[in-house]
Amino acid sequence: MNVLVTGGCGFIGSNLVKYLRRERPAWTVVNLDKLTYAGNLESLSELEGDPQHVFIRGDIGNRELVEHLMSVHAIDAVMHLAAESHVDRSILGPEVFVTTNVLGTQQLLEASRARGVRRFLMVSTDEVYGSLGPTGAFTESSPLQPSSPYSASKTSSDLVALAYHHTFNLDVVVTRCSNNYGRYQFPEKLIPLMVVNALHDKPLPVYGDGGNVRDWLHVEDHCHALLLALEKGRAGEVYNIGGGAERRNIDIVKAILGLVGKPESLIQYVKDRPGHDRRYAIDPSKIRAELGWTPAHTFEQGLAETVRWFVDHPAWWQRVTSGAYRQYFETQYRTR
Ligand code: NAD
Ligand code: DAU
Repeated sequence: MNVLVTGGCGFIGSNLVKYLRRERPAWTVVNLDKLTYAGNLESLSELEGDPQHVFIRGDIGNRELVEHLMSVHAIDAVMHLAAESHVDRSILGPEVFVTTNVLGTQQLLEASRARGVRRFLMVSTDEVYGSLGPTGAFTESSPLQPSSPYSASKTSSDLVALAYHHTFNLDVVVTRCSNNYGRYQFPEKLIPLMVVNALHDKPLPVYGDGGNVRDWLHVEDHCHALLLALEKGRAGEVYNIGGGAERRNIDIVKAILGLVGKPESLIQYVKDRPGHDRRYAIDPSKIRAELGWTPAHTFEQGLAETVRWFVDHPAWWQRVTSGAYRQYFETQYRTR
């Protein structure tokens, strides 16, 4: 089996590539990544010299390149994670979100159709459903009501992928997951940003009143769900993925301060994110019942382990925050 993982140098992608190499050692994983600011080959340094991990620097929107590598590597399946992923960036500059997430995905789907790919796993997000009130949870049939340019672009790509199934019979499965946390997350997202700021005794910027709720899932549990969806999901179906760990942002920030032994006086309430979704919660009954998925990590244990990882790996995030990680590709890969 030869799998094309797009965005395999990002947070979830790099965890997924390593997960696949461990769980499916006979497979070859071809990793197509543009190495934007969020792509970091250092997150995959343990795979250096592994002949069954093939890294290709390129854009999912480059149809010629994608078709070429699908044919050279005889790609059976695509796991599509490449995207612009950060909501705040989509508010500052929406254009690249449409270019990569919508148009890039469509090019990848077209290449998959042309090259007879047997399964296309579209990694989508719970943000397609918009915001919840104080009760209830998103099911796969909840209305699609995205709020931000990021979530609107992901909703578009999710629907274009489903349209390729309905119209062209491409074997597409869509997953919609809640907020991930874990090792190698770029320190612009809530949890790593707060850890890094706390370690530097810098203010911890909490948006609005800190009462927004997210439903957190350990990235390894997401990877497990993605593999199940790839191997056992039904074509044309959508599967919600979520860990049942709803937490208010402010409670997470306080927990992080406790774990690193820093005072709550570092918390700074700042202007709210425009259009900020209040609450997300996932009903994962379908993937549990149909594919037998259950998360292995509890949030408290996973958060403590993640914070410990950031404390123990200052070199990784210092090189990310300084920008030095971007030279790694030139030194480690260009020379091969
Ligand atoms: P990330 O920003 O950490 O990584 C994205 C990766 O995609 C980077 O390596 C980047 O270089 C690459 N990339 C960007 N544009 C590209 C292009 N045009 N061509 C090729 N590669 C490109 O993102 P993440 O948090 O790991 O999220 C991965 C996927 O999972 C995204 O599709 C995201 O929407 C989805 N998702 C994320 C979460 C979460 O909590 N992080 C939850 C649900 C779904
Ligand atoms: O729900 C899945 C989504 O989760 C993914 O599709 C996105 O790719 C991913 O980025 C994430 O989106 P969020 O906007 O929920 O994640 P973020 O880490 O940016 O923010 C989490 C919450 O914390 C949100 O309510 C905003 C708040 N926040 C975030 C930052 C960066 C703060 O209060 N302060 C901050 O500095």
